[in-house]
Amino acid sequence: MDIKTVGIVGAGQMGNGIAHVFALAGYDVLMNDVSREALDAAITLIEGNLDRQVSRGKISQSDRDAAMGRIKTTLTLTDLGQTDLVIEAATERESVKVAIFEDLVPHLKPETILTSNTSSISITRLASRTDRPEKFMGFHFMNPVPVMQLVELIRGIATDEATFKSCLAVVEKIGKTASTSEDFPAFIVNRILMPMINEAVYTLYEGVGSVASIDSAMKLGTNHPMGPLELADFIGLDTCLAIMNVLHDGLADTKYRPCPLLTKYVEAGWLGRKTDRGFYDYR
Ligand code: CAA
Repeated sequence: MDIKTVGIVGAGQMGNGIAHVFALAGYDVLMNDVSREALDAAITLIEGNLDRQVSRGKISQSDRDAAMGRIKTTLTLTDLGQTDLVIEAATERESVKVAIFEDLVPHLKPETILTSNTSSISITRLASRTDRPEKFMGFHFMNPVPVMQLVELIRGIATDEATFKSCLAVVEKIGKTASTSEDFPAFIVNRILMPMINEAVYTLYEGVGSVASIDSAMKLGTNHPMGPLELADFIGLDTCLAIMNVLHDGLADTKYRPCPLLTKYVEAGWLGRKTDRGFYDYR
């Protein structure tokens, strides 16, 4: 299928990054959110990130202007019905995602491919709540979207080959690299990354090292761009805990038990950068 227009549900951290890369790659983008403030904030962020790319010589001013000209916003979810590809990047709660699909699906063109940016919810289960499980996939971007090279493509049990190939072609067109995952809890990246982050929290919890020692050990000792605790703050500790719970419940193995200290931070509302406090204090 020739994809020209892309609908994005959710204008948050992931949604606005996804809009940015699609617009820059020449797609017409329609971004939806329930709040006008969120849509306006997303446009301001995209402008700022594109301006930074211009000032660093990565893109030209005319590329920037053309990209901004391709992004439209709407408060009406069903406006996305006429797009060729929809990427749902709303809150990481299954009930929220299912409600979005239930509202949107009756308005979609029959050929539209429907995808979710979920970081860990079963694609097969989400697909089963739509009218098009064969045209449904996981399209999982990494944060920050404009910088990270990877897109994880996740096939549900019913996803057909034409849908997979169309999504693969889109990933290439936006200049990213796809890694294909079957639909098992947390897919590939988070199956490996989250237990490492959780182990870093255990290392802190058991007093093996301080926050600074753990992060510098992994940054300088293994060349990670961020230490695991800094990265956990960047991702959001609530997201890290939610993904550990998906692994623990889905794979029924105690090796995935969330560290009690991670749970305690989330219960305190210390969610990392987004609340100005996590393993580090950003106030
Ligand atoms: N939008 C656009 N560009 C951005 C950006 C953003 N939000 N944030 C940073 N950049 C750009 C900068 O402009 C800079 O560009 P140039 O190379 O052209 O100068 C480049 O990224 C590097 O940024 P900085 O110099 O400001 O900072 P840095 O060198 O410390 O890099 C980082 C920042 C890219 C975030 C780096 O620390 C990093 O790669 N961290 C790890 C990120 C990671 O692991 N992400 C995956 C998380 S897991 C996930 O997302 C999946 C999930 O489901 C939870």
